Amino acid sequence: MTPSFRAIAFSGSLRNGSSNTALVRMAQRLAPPELHIEIIDWVHELPWMNPDLETDPPEPVQRWWNALREADALIVGMPEYNWNPTPLAKNALDWATRPPDDRAINGTAVAFLSSAGRAGGANSQGNIGTILGYMGAIVVDEPPVRLSLVADRINADGTTDDPEIEAAVSAKLDAVVAALHARPS
Ligand SMILES: Cc1cc2nc3c(=O)[nH]c(=O)nc-3n(C[C@H](O)[C@H](O)[C@H](O)COP(=O)(O)O)c2cc1C
Repeated sequence: MTPSFRAIAFSGSLRNGSSNTALVRMAQRLAPPELHIEIIDWVHELPWMNPDLETDPPEPVQRWWNALREADALIVGMPEYNWNPTPLAKNALDWATRPPDDRAINGTAVAFLSSAGRAGGANSQGNIGTILGYMGAIVVDEPPVRLSLVADRINADGTTDDPEIEAAVSAKLDAVVAALHARPS
């Protein structure tokens, strides 16, 4: 089956061997036939959010906005640092909510995949998920992928020996496809 929906995916962790980058790779590997997932590995090239830059957006910002506008869905490997998204993820998502009169994230299905400490990413997904919904995104919250203290079970190449982790990621991807089918045209 030719994929009918396009997703882009990025990881909010820059760490070598990141379990969240691995979750993004796992999502690409497990993508259902209807969903094509392209991994974006350059969100660190986005400048720090500064509204002064919006009058003449730098090339990485334009590239990010174009990628979002061409995608049906955005998948984020979302770690949790001190109960929040990492600065990398927050910065990319802040840019995604701009410009205010034509937000790049508007109409995009957004799904978070988190591998974190005890909180499992509940805090890092929570507030930003709520606000992205206010900004016009379709936040696919259920079923959650909030993996607690399992980073050592997820290999850097996106494989795992834990079928429950794969099942959780697959269920989320199925929910993204369902949300896109239900999206108002
Ligand atoms: C600065 C810092 C703060 C952290 N704060 C939290 C936290 O508030 N809640 C949590 O569940 N894990 C927390 N962690 C643990 C990370 O979420 C965990 O190490 C995760 O595996 C990192 O993702 P990665 O493997 O993709 O790099 C923190 C880690 C760091 C480095």
